[in-house]
Amino acid sequence: MPLEIVQAITESRLADIRARVEPLLKTDLPITLEVGSGHGHFLTAYAQAHPGRFCIGIDLLPDRLARSARKSERAALTNIAWLRADVRLFLEALPADARIDEIFILFSDPWPKRRHWKNRVLQPEFLTQLAARAGDDARLYFRTDHAPYFSQAHDFIEAHPEWTISADGFWPFELATVFQQRADGHQSLIARRAAAV
Ligand SMILES: C[S@@+](CC[C@H](N)C(=O)[O-])C[C@H]1O[C@@H](n2cnc3c(N)ncnc32)[C@H](O)[C@@H]1O
Repeated sequence: MPLEIVQAITESRLADIRARVEPLLKTDLPITLEVGSGHGHFLTAYAQAHPGRFCIGIDLLPDRLARSARKSERAALTNIAWLRADVRLFLEALPADARIDEIFILFSDPWPKRRHWKNRVLQPEFLTQLAARAGDDARLYFRTDHAPYFSQAHDFIEAHPEWTISADGFWPFELATVFQQRADGHQSLIARRAAAV
């Protein structure tokens, strides 16, 4: 496909995401983002337990988002929104002054074959993009049942100048996601947005 057409498609997707995100950012509440929110169990419960936060769940799959929306509507929550978007485009679409305070990435697709690792969400470029929209002292919570992905994510975060592994951090909220319920075990990692030098 010619480059101009690819650029035009990306621009139109960005414009669409911007239009959907703008009304959400009118909130005065600190923002919690869940990347790959799946069936919405975690974020719905989290929003219910944290009325002082505005929660945004991003996923690619419309059926999962529709199920998530039904959950939060049943609970009559007003501090949560669901968005169909690739998280990388979502971050690009955010205005430069938007700030995310907490980010959850739970049981993100591990892409087990080495040649597919490039498809994993947590990559150095993603950490850079996220850092640009993460507030001072923002927290990134990552949990997976896939040991090689955990180890790679740990290494990427450790090597990244804008994130620091938080050795003494505690997991703020326990609610087993659908993929957590299917897993035999898991590992968790907490990172903090490193202070600018
Ligand atoms: C393995 S599922 C885990 C879902 C949920 N977090 C859980 O633990 O049950 C991963 C989810 O991430 C979503 N996803 C994958 N890549 C994504 C991306 N680039 N942007 C947004 N969502 C993504 C998928 O559509 C899928 O629903």
